[in-house]
Amino acid sequence: MRPLRIALTKGRLEKDTVGLFEQMGKDCEALHNKGRRLILPVGDGNLEAVLCKAADVITYVEHGVCDLGVVGRDTILEYPGSFYEVMDLGFGRCRFALAGPKDKDFYSGYREKTIATKYPNVARAFFESKAMDVNVIKIEGSVELAPLLGLSDAIVDIVETGSTLKENGLQVIEEITPISARLIVNTASMKLRKEEIEALLSQMEAALSEKGR
Ligand code: PRP
Repeated sequence: MRPLRIALTKGRLEKDTVGLFEQMGKDCEALHNKGRRLILPVGDGNLEAVLCKAADVITYVEHGVCDLGVVGRDTILEYPGSFYEVMDLGFGRCRFALAGPKDKDFYSGYREKTIATKYPNVARAFFESKAMDVNVIKIEGSVELAPLLGLSDAIVDIVETGSTLKENGLQVIEEITPISARLIVNTASMKLRKEEIEALLSQMEAALSEKGR
């Protein structure tokens, strides 16, 4: 049988997950010296890490080519799928917020508002919950530019330290929901490789509570 495969979101979440693996006593030599390789062994050969973009973590786990995945709650909310969300890993903490220019009252006036975001589903759901019609425009990165350029009235985006907003004359209008990294599991793997997955989950839990102490 192949090793258990865990898809990791490249970048910050990948680094935090490697820290967690090390806390679990797993050798992460290959992940530290990965070069351009995308599939790397972790520990003693029972686990391998697959490095990909956040949305692809969900795709690979849903299709069962990866048994587990580490992905932000932001991505799960934007691309809901059928998998188990089994653990809040506690790192990658930030929040979704509605933000806009400092000097403007977003809710004033009757004109339909335009919202720029990398997360159109999250933005639509937020305004639907307020029974507010808005025009949503999808942006791929640095969403803060949209209100500065006059494309949108506000943005729905991730806020971590708040510096990007501050340095661009924007502020949080309303907090939407907290975000952190989650561990997801393929539904079939959860049955077929139950013992291995449960062993990994309890090692993770132990390492996380050790870290939290
Ligand atoms: C995210 C987000 C904000 C920024 C917030 O962007 O879209 O731009 O981080 O962080 P802060 O509150 O600490 O300033 P990211 O760095 O992921 O880059 P991107 O916009 O290119 O996706």
